Amino acid sequence: MLTRMQIAFQSIFRSPPDFIVRAPGRVNLIGEHTDYNEGFVLPMAIDRAVWIALRPRADRRVLVHSLDLNLSADFGLDSLARGEDRWQEYIKGVAHELQLAHYHLTGWEGVLAGDVPRGGGLSSSAALEVATARAFASVSGFEWDVLRIARIGQRVENNWLEVQTGIMDQAVSAGAKAGHAFFLDCRSLEYQHIPLPKDVAVAVMDTSTRRGLVDSAYNARREQCERAARWFRVKALRDVGVGEFEEREKKKEGLDELAWKRARHIITENERVLRAVDAMRTDDVVMLGKLFNESHASLRDDFEVTNDALNWIVEAAQARPECLGARMTGAGFGGCAVALVRRDSAEAFAQAVGAEYRARSGKVAAIFVSEAGEGASVIKL
Ligand code: GLA
Repeated sequence: MLTRMQIAFQSIFRSPPDFIVRAPGRVNLIGEHTDYNEGFVLPMAIDRAVWIALRPRADRRVLVHSLDLNLSADFGLDSLARGEDRWQEYIKGVAHELQLAHYHLTGWEGVLAGDVPRGGGLSSSAALEVATARAFASVSGFEWDVLRIARIGQRVENNWLEVQTGIMDQAVSAGAKAGHAFFLDCRSLEYQHIPLPKDVAVAVMDTSTRRGLVDSAYNARREQCERAARWFRVKALRDVGVGEFEEREKKKEGLDELAWKRARHIITENERVLRAVDAMRTDDVVMLGKLFNESHASLRDDFEVTNDALNWIVEAAQARPECLGARMTGAGFGGCAVALVRRDSAEAFAQAVGAEYRARSGKVAAIFVSEAGEGASVIKL
């Protein structure tokens, strides 16, 4: 990818780039829809990323050519306006939010490319936001602060694009460490890098289904969770433990069944994340897999964010002897699932699950093993 970026930059701008930056996509191991409930998440960066090769400009313009889309963006930092072309909005949104946060930005020109599947629940958008921020940091010379940058990316989603996402995707893309999962407390924003167990591989399974209207379904889940939190009289569902939840189950008048189910997912999922961190620390991969399976059932039955394709691929994975556990990952409604697989059988696993999924759905899945990658980085040339 590095060479491809250099060659592309050279051919468009007739000189080598000053910097190449990259920011990875992520797969969430466990802790789904918990981030905007101020809970816990445990994603890892994947070994696929968004890359930008760039050099500073003397004026305050940004010129970017996307190699994947064969489209160009050209805008001034003093006259940012929303447009229709979604990919550009991430870049402009980052510039806008950085400036609102009082960063002094330098203009740049560059080429952009990536290998994170788009719209599949692997955070291609967060990778683009964080790579853009990394590009601005390189040419403008400001310090890389993982959490401040993650907040900027989240604000781009919330304010510029009006999707009420949490902070998980941008935080892991900005701050992950190779070989480790990224354990984040979404209230305090403290994070720890947890080493992945050695003998297991993480398989990403793209169902190749994408659903429209994800944004509105996502925002609706968030409202349901907030309704439940108000009923429990807490700031966020993070504040309700499993014990208290079970206690209140007997007297739950005043809260609709739907919000109750949504709350049950969040409350049990938060506990699963903490148990998953313990399981990783003690190398208990069987327990870790079991927690994956429980998480999927909860997302399917209580949070209702799976579709047939996700359920089928997860069932196909769980049926394999080399699979320790599997679940959908990301926002849901389509996209990807993730499985924990015995490392020495990962190839056979991918083959078998692909065949079973194809027989059942008629669709072709893209299944790949990913190592836990490094967060955003800059390669100074
Ligand atoms: C999307 C959002 C995240 C998170 C997940 C669900 O990826 O961007 O903030 O809420 O969905 O866990």
